[in-house]
Amino acid sequence: MPRPVALEVAVPSEDLSYPVAVGAGLLDHVGATMQRVCPKARRVALISDENVVPLYGERVRASLEGAGLAVTTHVIEPGEPSKTPERMVALVSSLVADGLGRSDAVVALGGGVVGDLAGLVAALFMRGVDVVQCPTSLLAQVDASVGGKVAVDLPEGKNLLGAFAFPRAVVIDPGVLATLPDEELGCGVAEMLKHGALFDPQHFDAVRDQAEAIYGRDVAVLGREVATSVALKAACVVRDPMERSDAGKGRVALNLGHTVGHALEVTQGYGLKHGQAVGLGLLAAARVSRRLGLTAVDLEGHIRTALDALRLPTDLDAYLVPERRSAIVEAMGRDKKRAQHQITYIGLARLGEPRVVSLSPQAIWDAAASPPSGA
Ligand SMILES: NC(=O)c1ccc[n+]([C@@H]2O[C@H](COP(=O)([O-])OP(=O)(O)OC[C@H]3O[C@@H](n4cnc5c(N)ncnc54)[C@H](O)[C@@H]3O)[C@@H](O)[C@H]2O)c1
Repeated sequence: MPRPVALEVAVPSEDLSYPVAVGAGLLDHVGATMQRVCPKARRVALISDENVVPLYGERVRASLEGAGLAVTTHVIEPGEPSKTPERMVALVSSLVADGLGRSDAVVALGGGVVGDLAGLVAALFMRGVDVVQCPTSLLAQVDASVGGKVAVDLPEGKNLLGAFAFPRAVVIDPGVLATLPDEELGCGVAEMLKHGALFDPQHFDAVRDQAEAIYGRDVAVLGREVATSVALKAACVVRDPMERSDAGKGRVALNLGHTVGHALEVTQGYGLKHGQAVGLGLLAAARVSRRLGLTAVDLEGHIRTALDALRLPTDLDAYLVPERRSAIVEAMGRDKKRAQHQITYIGLARLGEPRVVSLSPQAIWDAAASPPSGA
């Protein structure tokens, strides 16, 4: 047999760094940001949803037009059902109809649904155009907008069709949280607690102690804590941009609270909001860590106090009842982080010290359910 020819294609890597700005009133400066980060853009497709456009669409449009950009606005129905391949393709077609070119850009104005969908549209349209994220929900500000994961859902599961595509910039205006319903604010708060629990106990305590200011929409407090939370997530993303590491402080750690949380969310028929379920998942992680000997600390009590102060549910035992066992174990088994029958589970040795362990769904149930099912 002739020897195969071995060639190597050297691909120079591009610097994918991007700025994240946090500050009250920044929505009025999106145009100036675009001039800086996408200087060749002449047209912008502003993608938003029906709740957010009447509140903030005009401010962003005015700022973009003030910077000399031609803006077309595309409005989707709010909520997860809009994150579909069909909606994504329809948006790509509208960008073609707008006459957007390769050097033009997308601006995503909305919660995580808009950010994920618009981000994927930008990643795929003409093999990729620039996107600037302007997240308007707390969850999107502290989590979804930073990290470059973009996706839509398939009937088989959430976020199954997606990519890593980093934005050109992220513009976070905590002033917009004034109109976000409390329940949605709570979802973002749970992710902030998660960042604190994983990487910075002081942030965990600061969020807990400022519950009243957070729910009172104090922009100074929100701006500070959002910026801290984003910095913690960003540092994690920088350590492991493409989620390839299974080390304790790589992106896999961001799954803390999500294995049990997601299983509760789906088996509850989505009666629990995502952030509420993540809060319960954090409690479960504390309990599992204690029962498996990863920690000797009463993290469960500490986390329960914080969830309580932050108006998030704490009644984990009401959800982990024997009659729900098989549904919850099965839902954990469908966890996308699983490898064969083992799940990559994130525990805690203490706040700020995540531990990655490999566990079966049944072992997680056994350690999380109270009293322990083996007792
Ligand atoms: N890409 C990532 O890394 C990542 C991380 C976490 C979550 N996500 C995704 O994010 C999505 C959830 O995001 P979400 O919780 O922001 O949901 P969402 O986008 O549905 O927003 C929640 C609700 O709040 C409304 N809203 C948003 N901002 C508002 C404002 N300022 N005032 C009034 N109403 C406002 C929206 O219209 C919507 O009704 C999920 O699809 C999830 O998969 C992605």
